[in-house]
Amino acid sequence: SLPNKVTIIEVGPRDGLQNEKNEVPTDIKLSFIEKLQQAGIEEMEITSFVSPKWVPQMKDANDIVTQVKKMGRQLVLTPNNKGVELAKQSGAQSFAVFVGVSNSFNKNNINKTTKESMDELRPIVGKLLQDGHFVRACISTAFYCPYEGKMKSSDTLALCKEFVSWGVNELSVADTIGMANPQESYELFTALKKEFPVTLITAHFHDTRKMGIANILATLQAGINRFDTSAGGLGGCPFAPGATGNVATEDVVNMLHQMGIRTNIDLNSLLKAVEVVEPYVSRPIDTGMYKLFKSK
Ligand code: HMG
Ligand code: MG
Repeated sequence: SLPNKVTIIEVGPRDGLQNEKNEVPTDIKLSFIEKLQQAGIEEMEITSFVSPKWVPQMKDANDIVTQVKKMGRQLVLTPNNKGVELAKQSGAQSFAVFVGVSNSFNKNNINKTTKESMDELRPIVGKLLQDGHFVRACISTAFYCPYEGKMKSSDTLALCKEFVSWGVNELSVADTIGMANPQESYELFTALKKEFPVTLITAHFHDTRKMGIANILATLQAGINRFDTSAGGLGGCPFAPGATGNVATEDVVNMLHQMGIRTNIDLNSLLKAVEVVEPYVSRPIDTGMYKLFKSK
């Protein structure tokens, strides 16, 4: 049976904006985040502490963390020790580390093999957990890699298992290039639920082939009640060629509400949050619910 309540982890300010061509001013990002909070978002990836040479859009990470209103769980992405140290100095409390199942993707994304990344992260994550911080592990290319094609689910499960053995609080398992179909999503998330009954498990779908919302339904049926989504459907990883944004928060929230599943999010306020960033992003926002909202 389907859950009565779903948690949306908003990733718009991070995944949504990291790939944006235009420079989005810091005060606009802060106002976007505040509007999302007002709409009822309780968990959010607000920025990432990555190299400004690799991802210029996230260079204001320190200003975001220090100036944002502290509400709910605010996650920051950190690829390495330097990122974690900078994030801690800003006052970040909740951390997201990220690793690709695919070596080629991991190399392109963080300039290390998957094993090198895991070796570097093990003590860092151990220390964060020991200090009482919340840690989520983002598993990229869990289904397909832009360079290597289809991934083996046994490899994805093995990587998740290693993170779980370190004691991470959450696994966010990602279809980085939006290629998984509902059947594959159902199967992988059923296996994840079975294998890791205690860890929070979250599904992260990019919507490149417009299967995102179908994948969410399939994943709900597999017993998952946490989803990473992006307001306005913004986003994409700069190091995953051809990948577009995450499945849109407003379209997912609408579907869930129509099905009688609670999210604690007010759809109209959420659409007002999208309105804040729309003038600053280079792609038209063409999500179902946003277009309907603008046509009224
Ligand atoms: P590198 O060039 O190998 O790093 O990059 P390095 O250690 O040799 O350092 C090079 C320079 O970067 C040095 O500065 C370091 O101090 C600096 P310089 O001496 O040249 O002036 N540096 C940093 N600065 C700020 N923050 C840091 C940091 N680390 C080093 N944390 C590195 C390695 C990991 C830094 C780089 O590859 C990087 O920043 N990658 C980030 C890529 C990224 O942000 N990708 C998108 C997020 S993941 C994603 O979107 C997927 C997800 O949504 C799930 C899914 O959909 O799959 C989560
Ligand atoms: Mg992503």
